[in-house]
Amino acid sequence: MTSRSFIEERYRSETPLSAALMSKAAAVLPGGNTRTTSFHPPYPVVIERGDGPWLWDVDKRRYLDLFCNGLSLIHGNNYGPAREAIQTVMQRGTAWSGASREQIEYAELLQDRIKALELLRFTNSGSEACMLAVKAARHITGRPYIVKSMGAYHGSYPDLEAGLYGKRDLEGRALVATFNDVHSYERVMAQHGKEVAAIVIEPVLVTGRVVPPAPGFLTYLQTLARRYGALSIVDDCLMLRLAVGGSAEKFALQPDMVVLGKFIGGGTAVGAFGGSREIMKIFDPTRRGCVFHGGSFNGNLVGCAAGLVTMRDLTAERIAAMDAASLSIRSALARRADALGLEVILTGTGSVAGIAFAADPERHEDDPSALGLAALFHLACLSEGVLIGPGGILSVSTAHDADAVSFAIAGLSAALETVAEFLGSLTH
Ligand SMILES: Cc1ncc(COP(=O)(O)O)c(C=O)c1O
Repeated sequence: MTSRSFIEERYRSETPLSAALMSKAAAVLPGGNTRTTSFHPPYPVVIERGDGPWLWDVDKRRYLDLFCNGLSLIHGNNYGPAREAIQTVMQRGTAWSGASREQIEYAELLQDRIKALELLRFTNSGSEACMLAVKAARHITGRPYIVKSMGAYHGSYPDLEAGLYGKRDLEGRALVATFNDVHSYERVMAQHGKEVAAIVIEPVLVTGRVVPPAPGFLTYLQTLARRYGALSIVDDCLMLRLAVGGSAEKFALQPDMVVLGKFIGGGTAVGAFGGSREIMKIFDPTRRGCVFHGGSFNGNLVGCAAGLVTMRDLTAERIAAMDAASLSIRSALARRADALGLEVILTGTGSVAGIAFAADPERHEDDPSALGLAALFHLACLSEGVLIGPGGILSVSTAHDADAVSFAIAGLSAALETVAEFLGSLTH
């Protein structure tokens, strides 16, 4: 047995029921999976329940949750106030075709917090919201191209998959430039600027590797878009967590449009997109020739009720506490890696951090089945009772208190030691 298989064998031996259920799943779902972003080899654990910063799998193992459903549970698992709000409104139903008080109230709250949202619309996911923002930008400008960063993830909308999964520019639809490289963006815009409807911005790259923006880069993108008469769209599905007003507030941006998703549904499936009155009036059904946007569950009662309490509870103080927790985890890991002589790349912004190994290829998401040190670290973390994002994403929620932070540091440090042991075994 090799050292590599020792890490995997340990994981397999600890998770027999997950393994059995995942092979059952493979009979009905491709690869046993219905969400590529949550897959990792040999198989992810099957979860039984979650509470606060903790998850339990079907083998009754407990994990500290540093992924929080792909950063979509800002107050941790099974957040009491959101659960109660859902239980209360469910006495009246779950969704209907008309509006509800909760829908209007929730739209008001989002409008109040995020300056760019003079008007907004609800969707059922971040992918859908990104797709509709692009649809709006193309309609307004009459131009075909979207410019986005290599490696930026905006969901499962084909036009925004340029720069991912080995795809580059998509003829007539999308162009790719390099994140944090103003010259690369200049070149693309100099060549195609007049055909560009929007620059879609992921303010901090997260999928694959966490890459914070260089100072001034995001405002530069906004200026560049304006110079060419294109819109700037900030995809804040993840980074709304950086400030009460999201990344526009954090990085002093004035985007034309903002896209939201993930935790705005309070643990349920909600997305939203919006912008100035001028832009969003194209969706106004009282106007002739309005742009069509349907969706049976848009702005549904359950999502709006859960989202309302979740966002109300996401205060500046709680954001600051999450940021501090994330920083202490990151700093402790850097010290541990250093002591072990491991070359790791630790990055982060606010409550999101990423750990990558210098020996691994730069990004991994093009091949979710690829093995590298990051994948081994990920499995080693699970064996230590810590669940991180498959690409080395470490996020905290407001539920991650001092005990959770200590547990995270201990578990992640032990997993680093396992990786060091694996590397040591290669040289013997
Ligand atoms: C930045 C960003 N945009 C959009 C999406 C897509 O959101 P959803 O998974 O709700 O479709 C994601 C999901 O991970 C994301 O991280």
